Amino acid sequence: MKAIAVFPGQPNSIHLANLPKPGVDDVPGGRGVLVKILCVGVDGTDKEINAAEYGTAPPGYDFLVIGHESFGVVEAVGSQVTELSVGDVVVATVRRPGSSIYDRIGQYDMTLDDTYYERGISLRHGFLTEYYVDEPEYIVKVPPGLKATGVLLEPASVIEKGIHQAYEIQRRLRVWQPKRAAVLGAGTIGLLATLALRLRGLEVCTFARTRPPYLNSELVEQIGGCYHSSQDLSLAEASKAHGPFDLIFEATGFAPLVFEAMNILGKNGVLVLSSVTGGGRNIEIPADRINLGFVLGNKVVVGTVNANREYFELGVRDFCLAEMQYPGWLAKLLTHPVEGLENYQELIDTLTEAKGAIKVFCEIAPIV
Ligand code: BGC
Ligand code: ZN
Repeated sequence: MKAIAVFPGQPNSIHLANLPKPGVDDVPGGRGVLVKILCVGVDGTDKEINAAEYGTAPPGYDFLVIGHESFGVVEAVGSQVTELSVGDVVVATVRRPGSSIYDRIGQYDMTLDDTYYERGISLRHGFLTEYYVDEPEYIVKVPPGLKATGVLLEPASVIEKGIHQAYEIQRRLRVWQPKRAAVLGAGTIGLLATLALRLRGLEVCTFARTRPPYLNSELVEQIGGCYHSSQDLSLAEASKAHGPFDLIFEATGFAPLVFEAMNILGKNGVLVLSSVTGGGRNIEIPADRINLGFVLGNKVVVGTVNANREYFELGVRDFCLAEMQYPGWLAKLLTHPVEGLENYQELIDTLTEAKGAIKVFCEIAPIV
């Protein structure tokens, strides 16, 4: 079967690889689930892997099949699988457990291990291919009504984790009643964070560089958020006009903003950081002021990466709510389809160059 792969460590090595079709027996104990892949989203991580900034091939291979945002349909199940049936539409989680205590209780996204296993990213092949086999533990059933948008569930799982963690942390306050949130960034992650916070009843201000109106600012407004260009309104000004913010979700990829966010976070507030920043930037910050605000205001900052199946399941629930409350909104994020694995070059070019793209994705087989 065809697969889109890179040679890790070799920039722009994206190519079409060939792999044998897997089977349910590849997983021991009759626990294999064979999934036919329908559609796979790509993101900044895929761009960085093709640029050889990271990515590691599985043992025994010199290439890595990329793609970690999958959507597919179950084609066969092993004799001991009761959780899923042929015909179910599904998404797969990305990380696979290592050896720390968190890995052993299904919280592999919280691993203490330095080496981690992520399908399509590190030491495990990804989903830009025709089929995969995995254990039911890593495969989440999606209601058929979400067929058209299920491919967005992996990015959604990342924001669900961040927001869930924020609420867990805030149980320290006994009566936390967040009213206002700020989301920094209006790409896929920023838009999905805006949605999840709107669904929880918060007023949301979403910030990004581009001046409105454009698709992303319109999408924010369609779900009752307010959009601001950071070229016209600083975070400090926004906090005066629309704050104080009880929760801030950072998803811009621009680390200096983190310290501005810390500076304006409301009392008892929580700041969630989700940007993976590979650079080496140094900046000057108002250290005393930020520290004082945190101490006198009992504030928290928390980082979040990856997601375990619990957060994929939360994503499914939010997508159901979203379809009821804002019908058709999620599908508008799927701006740039590329048909067929053989068009891998167009896929990566669209990802790196397309103006106005929110989600670029590969249509591998028709969704029926
Ligand atoms: C993926 C996460 C992953 C992270 C870091 C993101 O693009 O969505 O699942 O943990 O990259 O590797
Ligand atoms: Zn606002």
